[in-house]
Amino acid sequence: MRQSREEIEDYDFIINLVYERARIRLNDGKHQLIKARLGKRMRHHGHQTLAEYINFLKNSGTEEEITHVVDALTTNFTHFLREKDHFDFLVQTGIPKTLESGQRRFSVWSAACATGEEPYSIGFYLSHHFPPEQNWDWKILATDISTKALGKAQEAIYPEDRLEAVPPEWRRNYFQKGFGKWLGNYRIKDSIRARITFRNLNLLGQYDVNEQFTVIFCRNVMIYFDRPTQEELVKKLSRFLVPKGYLLIGHSESLTGLNTGLKCLRPSVYQKE
Ligand SMILES: C[S@@+](CC[C@H](N)C(=O)[O-])C[C@H]1O[C@@H](n2cnc3c(N)ncnc32)[C@H](O)[C@@H]1O
Repeated sequence: MRQSREEIEDYDFIINLVYERARIRLNDGKHQLIKARLGKRMRHHGHQTLAEYINFLKNSGTEEEITHVVDALTTNFTHFLREKDHFDFLVQTGIPKTLESGQRRFSVWSAACATGEEPYSIGFYLSHHFPPEQNWDWKILATDISTKALGKAQEAIYPEDRLEAVPPEWRRNYFQKGFGKWLGNYRIKDSIRARITFRNLNLLGQYDVNEQFTVIFCRNVMIYFDRPTQEELVKKLSRFLVPKGYLLIGHSESLTGLNTGLKCLRPSVYQKE
């Protein structure tokens, strides 16, 4: 069915709002997604149509309501051990090459952590290769713009089918199996959760971060930003890397042609010089 000019303008309003806030560009092919994802907000406020809800947003949308819209539309897709070679790189090169001799304390940042699978995967690898029982002292900062995703990340409960990529030994070591009403679900154990700090942070805003990181994971979020925004973001993130520290971006992302000051070691792996 053809859309009216008003409908197209409404969708453009939402597309622009999300771009302004999150620099995620939902293109015109995303109208169905917008409609589906905003349905819950629409019903919450008792509106019968999307047009009514968008009109309400335009005229009296509070910051809180706008956050709900951004939350609903920023895609949080992720899974455990996604783009696994980055985790191997982390423990084989990323950490060993940046630590000074005798240093056993370090931090890693998961800078768009979505529902937690990425920082927990980092936690599995670090627990295995740098065990705290052997006096390794590491921390993970996990941040995201989506408060909803962060809520899930902090809850740390995942249905069994989400654990597909996790080897059985790590399931036993790092997850608690649910019983009763939690049957079929797994929760990340305290030993890992205690080492991760979750925080709401807009990568394009001010950073309330006071530490330096050996490795920063900023994966599968850059793809939504335009080139100047990507360049600015990478420069900003590199200020939080230790000398020779590493920035990892998603496999389908590229910083080629950008003036970032980082050395490209291989696609998706960058180093502060
Ligand atoms: C596709 S997920 C990627 C998750 C994980 N890094 C991975 O690679 O599996 C993208 C995440 O980026 C977050 N995001 C989008 N814009 C952001 C921004 N401006 N600041 C911080 N996080 C943002 C979204 O909320 C979402 O959770």
